[in-house]
Amino acid sequence: MDKNFYITTPIYYPSAKPHMGHAYSSIIADFFARIKRIQGFNVFFLTGTDEHGLKIQRAAEKQSMDTKKFCDEISKTFRELSKTLNLSNNDFIRTTEKRHFTSVEHLWKILEKKNEIYLSKYSGWYSVSDEAFYSDEEIEDIEGVKRSKLSGSQVEWVEEESYFFKLSKWQEPLLKFYDENPKFILPESRKNEVISFVKSGLKDLSVSRKSFSWGIKVPSNKNHVIYVWLDALTNYISALNYPDENNALYKNFWPATVHLIGKDILRFHAIYWPAFLMAANITPPKRIYGHGWILSGEEKMSKSKGNILDPIEIINKYGLDPLRYYLIKEVSFGNDGNISQEKLENTINSDLANNYGNLCQRVIAFSEKNLDLEVPKNINFVETDLKILNEFNSNYPKLLDFINNQDINGYSNFIVERLFASNKYFNDEEPWNKKNDKQRLNTIIYVSLELIRKITILLYPIIPDSALKVLNIFDIKEDKISFESIKNNEFLKSGKKIKKMKILFKKVGQND
Ligand code: ME8
Ligand code: MG
Repeated sequence: MDKNFYITTPIYYPSAKPHMGHAYSSIIADFFARIKRIQGFNVFFLTGTDEHGLKIQRAAEKQSMDTKKFCDEISKTFRELSKTLNLSNNDFIRTTEKRHFTSVEHLWKILEKKNEIYLSKYSGWYSVSDEAFYSDEEIEDIEGVKRSKLSGSQVEWVEEESYFFKLSKWQEPLLKFYDENPKFILPESRKNEVISFVKSGLKDLSVSRKSFSWGIKVPSNKNHVIYVWLDALTNYISALNYPDENNALYKNFWPATVHLIGKDILRFHAIYWPAFLMAANITPPKRIYGHGWILSGEEKMSKSKGNILDPIEIINKYGLDPLRYYLIKEVSFGNDGNISQEKLENTINSDLANNYGNLCQRVIAFSEKNLDLEVPKNINFVETDLKILNEFNSNYPKLLDFINNQDINGYSNFIVERLFASNKYFNDEEPWNKKNDKQRLNTIIYVSLELIRKITILLYPIIPDSALKVLNIFDIKEDKISFESIKNNEFLKSGKKIKKMKILFKKVGQND
């Protein structure tokens, strides 16, 4: 079994500061990176910024700034956000880095050598905001402005000499590839979208521009810059030191396990990217997951619409883990979702403070009062104990399926169910009424501590910081967390002291 796992986020445009949508993709990717690490996988998690093209050039011009300096500044805010979000990324790539130039130039040369690229003339619609070409059928006129039907962004007419990639030639091989790799595009609904688009006929793709200079030059013709999407997509292999295909990173991690993206950029990842790679005789990635959008009201939250929610503000007010928890559990993964302060507060109160926080606090407080914070000795599991403990065992294959199919909601709902069940167990077993039956009291507390340990391991990829605080009471360090250990009902050593812990999540809302 392949024990390597490579996950990526899109590389974001540093045309403006990051917003909640970017935070969303990054947090989800981090969830998978962390869960795979505690499953013992060798993980590579990549994020970064996409810095070339007319969109960025114009954004810098608007600020009267040198383009590279502009990129440096905004890319830095994305890098800082990845720290603020507690991302466990292994690398952060910028397309203005030398390693990336080397990689893109090499890929271009191969495509040219293999006769996959030819020089001609482009005339058609271009959206600078999407950095995408659109056909006549994909354009509509709204109050005198030509816009993409897909994204709503304004398009302009472009006519210039351009290199073309022979995309049409890859129509059939792509369809065959989707057919042979039925989980290449997830979720299913998006896969169908892509397949019908490809079936409707692929035209050759313009892959260079001549009318501006901010980008990577075509190696054989410096009058052209390489199309920013061909440039950007290549980041996923640049970070593995492509074109050195014999180095450990490339050997271990290519093809990527999952490119996690938003549905807005599905076409580029699910059609162009595998086509470029096949044409260069490189194996395509294993999966493209196109998640939904975080909406602002009814609309996509986006910098061009100016309707953004700043993740930093939310984090300053509520803390990071509540935001991570909300985005992972409350947004139906794959579909569009919403975030508002009210909804976030409700989730903090019900799930984090009342359910999880309460379970931890009451069990630890009881242990302190009655057992001097010692993991109980002299225990004897009865059927009720085994039943609740074994839920983790019997559902283990299901949990693995959730993880491997990116069913985040299946995974997080399992946790919530276990939290309710654990709190109920503690209530029903009434350890406070068992002071005359020491063995029973000990057993109930032992089971409750095990439940906290198991649930906390499941929560670690979602709320790593809080989970580590709880695991710390059992002296479990981050690099020792084992996902598999949720199957063990007797992990905790009797007689060992547990540590005390401060309140994890305070209730928020009306009164503060
Ligand atoms: O497209 N909801 O960069 P970008 C959810 N540079 N996710 C959102 C979102 C929202 N409202 N808004 C943005 C680009 N995202 C290219 C990518 S990759 C080789 C090049 C997330 O800055 C989502 O992942 O426009 C989306 O696909 C990505 O940010 C687009 O970021
Ligand atoms: Mg965008």
